[in-house]
Amino acid sequence: MGKRFLAAFSGAVLALSLAACGGEGAGGGGDTSGEKPSDLTIGVSMPTQTSERWIADGNSVKQKLEAKGYKVDLQYAGDDIPTQSQQVDQMITQGADVLVIAAIDGTALSGQLQAAADAKIPVIAYDRLIRDSPNVNFYVSFDNYKVGVAQATALLVGLGLLNKDGSKGTAKGPFNIELFAGSLDDNNAHFFFDGAMDTLKPFIDDKSLRVKSGQTAIEQVAILRWQQETAQKRMEDLLTSSYNDGSKVQGVLSPYDGLSRGIITALQNAGYGGSGSKMPVVTGQDAEIASVKLINDGVQSSTIFKDTRLLAEQAVIAAEAFLQEKEPQANDTKTYDNGVKVVPSFLLPVQTVYKDDIKSALVDSGYWTAEEVASGQAKG
Ligand code: GAL
Repeated sequence: MGKRFLAAFSGAVLALSLAACGGEGAGGGGDTSGEKPSDLTIGVSMPTQTSERWIADGNSVKQKLEAKGYKVDLQYAGDDIPTQSQQVDQMITQGADVLVIAAIDGTALSGQLQAAADAKIPVIAYDRLIRDSPNVNFYVSFDNYKVGVAQATALLVGLGLLNKDGSKGTAKGPFNIELFAGSLDDNNAHFFFDGAMDTLKPFIDDKSLRVKSGQTAIEQVAILRWQQETAQKRMEDLLTSSYNDGSKVQGVLSPYDGLSRGIITALQNAGYGGSGSKMPVVTGQDAEIASVKLINDGVQSSTIFKDTRLLAEQAVIAAEAFLQEKEPQANDTKTYDNGVKVVPSFLLPVQTVYKDDIKSALVDSGYWTAEEVASGQAKG
């Protein structure tokens, strides 16, 4: 916690000084209700292109806004915090009328958001809450606590401790598991981990699950910037330090498909999934195509599907409401306290996908084609 606040504080100071040099002369904002869509620009700031989900998010938001006649300034920040700050500063100075931002570090944009507020530009936090600022006007996301619950439940189902209908399974354990969390500067990582740990705790307490490494605090298991390579390295280290006595890891809680792929690579390199050694139950999130293929091939156990098309649609609905000088409709006004205020939110439901669900959830809905699932590659 202390570290988070310190990070938030230094981030805010840096951002404030950046805003002080770049925030003047904004042309956007103000009353836009009488203007034509073609005279209005929406700035869309996305974290990275290394993960296909953010590419899909950015494209969906852009296409849906352009279809309504708006101009869109879509930028990716290469997971670099100063780059994202600069891009948002520039959107403000170039006259954006609304900002849609998926933050890299949820605490690092206070200065930009102040400049936006000064120029009367509404800010919509996209999937990741922006913290420590009064100037976040709306939040569109999924039910992030439930994502964590769903991930832990999928782990329990995969191990046989629970059945898919939630009833008690026939397996008894004890099972060796390891835990992973996302980037500590991403608000979502905390919601995912809390939801998962609340779900796993009774099974850890009654000893049907054992975290053999003993690493159960989020600070011990978090992966900075959600990087696949870092997750692979941590899994390799865990295998060396905690499983060099002939014991096997049987389940891994992973909060994101990119991390799951790193974890799976480490496990495969150590012989798991080969002859005589079962692949552990590995969870995920985002239904990234490479991971959907791994689920289809029986390598990864599950993912959590969050339909980014619906998220993009909510972002567009919220942006349009602001452009018409209206408040977007929230369906949650309690959960997302960003440290300064509770941000009105629109939260979408999530769906667990096991191998058997790929067709109904992902192919029939047009999210991926059967060919993409078979090849593990997006056609684009
Ligand atoms: C989170 C997001 C997840 C996953 C992760 C890594 O903020 O909610 O769905 O995409 O970032 O990109």
